[in-house]
Amino acid sequence: MSPRDLLADSRVLWQMLRGQPRVGSAAERLQAFYAPQASRYDAFRERLLHGRSELIERLAIPAGGTVVELGGGTGSNIDRFGTGLERLQRYTLVDLCPALLAQAHPRAKRHGNVELVEADVTRFRPQEPVDCVFFSYALTMVEDWRAALANALLMLKPGGMLGVVDFYVSAARPRPGFVRHAAWERWFWRRWFAHDGVMLAPQHLEALTDAMPESIRLEREGAMPYLPGMSVPYYLFIGRKSC
Ligand SMILES: C[S@@+](CC[C@H](N)C(=O)[O-])C[C@H]1O[C@@H](n2cnc3c(N)ncnc32)[C@H](O)[C@@H]1O
Repeated sequence: MSPRDLLADSRVLWQMLRGQPRVGSAAERLQAFYAPQASRYDAFRERLLHGRSELIERLAIPAGGTVVELGGGTGSNIDRFGTGLERLQRYTLVDLCPALLAQAHPRAKRHGNVELVEADVTRFRPQEPVDCVFFSYALTMVEDWRAALANALLMLKPGGMLGVVDFYVSAARPRPGFVRHAAWERWFWRRWFAHDGVMLAPQHLEALTDAMPESIRLEREGAMPYLPGMSVPYYLFIGRKSC
């Protein structure tokens, strides 16, 4: 890594060390946390937020389909769709943080079928039910994640797909077939991320699996920038809404 990149990362690392403010509305807290690091967000998160391209590759969205990304931030996932984006009727990116949405604007402008919406993911509703809804490292940042999940399910057409990629920690006694993380891992990663308003929990993956028994669940670990030898657990989930 060049000294220039290191200097640019230092702004992100400083914000992460300061953490997300504890006071104010969700929108105010997100803006205070992300605005100073927004221009470096994509370069840094490219090395931290694993599995996003894989999730998008695995979402089998029909040609002419409609997609909603909840908590889409800077819109880097728009680029991950590649040429597949042009086959979509509409891609709606919803986020509550103006500083990150400002980074998404130039991306959205390059495509006629992308719209950006500043809204809370627990309340946003598209005009018509959609083919696919996904969260990419957003569910852990939504305070009322159960409301966000319930809202996502309501947006889907029967047979529509819900995709999630995110950090998590396992339960102390996971369900049969689920991965178990060591006690120190469960303790360490929860505290590490909570400082930045990212709430890791075993309940996310359990609730997803309960809501959509027809699903794929992949539990993985990925490298952490600036923490050599450490790997953080994340999962990919793709479920289909029953018809
Ligand atoms: C870690 S970022 C992930 C951004 C993007 N999906 C990605 O993969 O790079 C989490 C995003 O969730 C958004 N977010 C958190 N709570 C939200 C809420 N209640 N409503 C809308 N967006 C929210 C944040 O503003 C932020 O953009």
